[in-house]
Amino acid sequence: MPDIAAMDTIDPRALRDCCGKFATGVTVITTRTPEGAHGMTVSAFMSVSLDPPLISISVNNQSKMLGKIRDAGCYAVNILSRDMEPHALHFAGRRDDSLTNLFQERHGLPTLRGAAAIIVADVVHQVEAGDHVLLLGHVRNLDHDHAAAPLLYHAGQFGGLAAHPAG
Ligand SMILES: Cc1cc2nc3c(=O)[nH]c(=O)nc-3n(C[C@H](O)[C@H](O)[C@H](O)COP(=O)(O)O)c2cc1C
Repeated sequence: MPDIAAMDTIDPRALRDCCGKFATGVTVITTRTPEGAHGMTVSAFMSVSLDPPLISISVNNQSKMLGKIRDAGCYAVNILSRDMEPHALHFAGRRDDSLTNLFQERHGLPTLRGAAAIIVADVVHQVEAGDHVLLLGHVRNLDHDHAAAPLLYHAGQFGGLAAHPAG
């Protein structure tokens, strides 16, 4: 059987479609530079280590967010609640002017009102990875809403859990 990877014939679209079968939550990464608060929708978030407390996000080289996080040296992961699909679209470049008063100050960074959880981290390592950069963060603050149901993302669609203790 031919080794498709070795021949480097992986079609980026096929890879994206395949990875899209992995259901995830949705986050908005927020940070601040002298120009102000900035947010960006990111599904490529993972917890990395509990002791020491480390997380990682994968950010596209072309995004405005990459330079802003590099300037700030820190970022907040805002894990979206089920009712925050409009926020996910807004912070993915589909501006929605009906969303107002989005940010609240927490732990020295702008964070999203209504998020299910917030994790604030200082960047401790950056890994250039093709057209993305992995930003490893050392966690310094946490907040979460016990009752919040999560927003999910699968195969290009948003959704929620069929059943959730919060109803
Ligand atoms: C559900 C969803 C998940 C996304 N996940 C990522 C991601 O993990 N990494 C990334 O670089 N872009 C991701 N994007 C795309 C960015 O949100 C989008 O390119 C954004 O407009 C970049 O913002 P900026 O250039 O203003 O910083 C995602 C978009 C959506 C809708």
